[in-house]
Amino acid sequence: MVLSKKTKKKKNIKKYNVCVVGAGHVGLVAAACFAELGHEVVCVDNDKNKINFLKKSKLPFYEPELEPLVKKGVKKGNLNFSASLDIGIKKSEVIFIAVGTPPQDDGSADLTSIENVARAVAKNLNSYKLIVEKSTVPVQTGKKVKETIQRYRKNDVEFDVASNPEFLREGKAIYDFFYPDRIVLGVESKKAEKIFKEIYSSIKAPLVVTDIYTAELIKHASNSFLAAKISFINGVSRVCELAGADVEKVSLAMGLDKRIGKEFLNAGLGYGGFCFPKDVEAFMYISKKLGYDFGLLKEIKKINDCQRVHFVEKIKEHLWVLKNKKIAVLGLSFKPDTDDMRFAPSEDIINNFLKQGAEMFVYDPQAMNEAKKIFSSSNKIKFFKDAYSAVKNCDCVCFLTEWDELKKIDFKKIKKLVNYPFIADGRNMFDPAQVKKYGFEYISIGR
Ligand code: UDX
Repeated sequence: MVLSKKTKKKKNIKKYNVCVVGAGHVGLVAAACFAELGHEVVCVDNDKNKINFLKKSKLPFYEPELEPLVKKGVKKGNLNFSASLDIGIKKSEVIFIAVGTPPQDDGSADLTSIENVARAVAKNLNSYKLIVEKSTVPVQTGKKVKETIQRYRKNDVEFDVASNPEFLREGKAIYDFFYPDRIVLGVESKKAEKIFKEIYSSIKAPLVVTDIYTAELIKHASNSFLAAKISFINGVSRVCELAGADVEKVSLAMGLDKRIGKEFLNAGLGYGGFCFPKDVEAFMYISKKLGYDFGLLKEIKKINDCQRVHFVEKIKEHLWVLKNKKIAVLGLSFKPDTDDMRFAPSEDIINNFLKQGAEMFVYDPQAMNEAKKIFSSSNKIKFFKDAYSAVKNCDCVCFLTEWDELKKIDFKKIKKLVNYPFIADGRNMFDPAQVKKYGFEYISIGR
């Protein structure tokens, strides 16, 4: 997934020295893609092991199409990795901050890493620099970054702070970078705006140029709105179950209304991952801090949390006692095409089953290593190399992530392996009539 040669040749792009701080999902993708656009990129991370692996083009996580892009940049010589933030900043004109902003107990984002980068910029301000927030940060973080640089700098070299929020989805990150729905630029100067326009000149997308506060808020509002759509349809799914209606048809018909749109209207176990759960909470926290109690956001989170509990309760209704029952879980990552387990519904669901005394037999096409780290303390959970070994002698087979590989599962084969033919589909992956035809009891979401 790269820009076509035609597009690149057409433009004589101005090359920038770019430093991307943070080699996580956002940072590494941005670094590899900026290099692909022709810029000189250094990606910095304080994890030396990660940097050593990256220098050999070994990736710290799974993201389709990223590895070849990293290899290409490294080979061409315009994508470098370094553990030295000082060097990265000194040699760059544009610095993208893509460090982690993990949630704290009160829902607010921990901005320690952002402050560290701002202080490092102040220390290494050897020429004009554009410092860009790329990670999701609370509104007004840009202002704090600017104040921090002003406070700690040793000279009066000119600099700009800007916000350029990232909207990429894990699993489709490279595509989203090159073909975004829009590029949001929160700037305070014409110079910053010009640099951005040159950096992104090969990408065809509407540019939304705003002030920094507005750009920061666009990110909060967009992610929370998408989370709201998911929670809305999940709320509808609960009513469908009670009324005997089919949420899939409700969603289909709603989505055909252009004002609503069909995206993010799939009922299931709710949203997970490192963005939506944390961003909804952070938006809730920041709105309250600014003086507005955004009650709708609380409800979005509540519905999302309830979906996971409700799914286990429905399975319990079928199996009666969960103690010593053998339950297979197929699909662990928070969504398909990623090995990311952060805030995955599978974690809460498996822990709930374990608490009630069930034995767990699990498999995921990519997330096994990440899952092993999370569940390392339990001896009631066994990991398998494929779906068919996991389901052997089980009383229930749960599907928690809609991987293509799992959608193509051989029900005839499963039927012969299980102790009791019962399927719990947390993502409405299958046609109920088809599954029942193979002789399974079948439950799903909202139908
Ligand atoms: C999201 C945003 O889409 C992206 O713009 C932002 O930059 C980061 O957060 P991501 O977390 O990678 O991206 O995943 P996404 O594909 O948006 O899905 C988020 C979660 O919502 C997943 O757990 C997914 O399973 C769930 N989901 C999505 C639903 O439950 N139903 C849907 O209809 C859509």
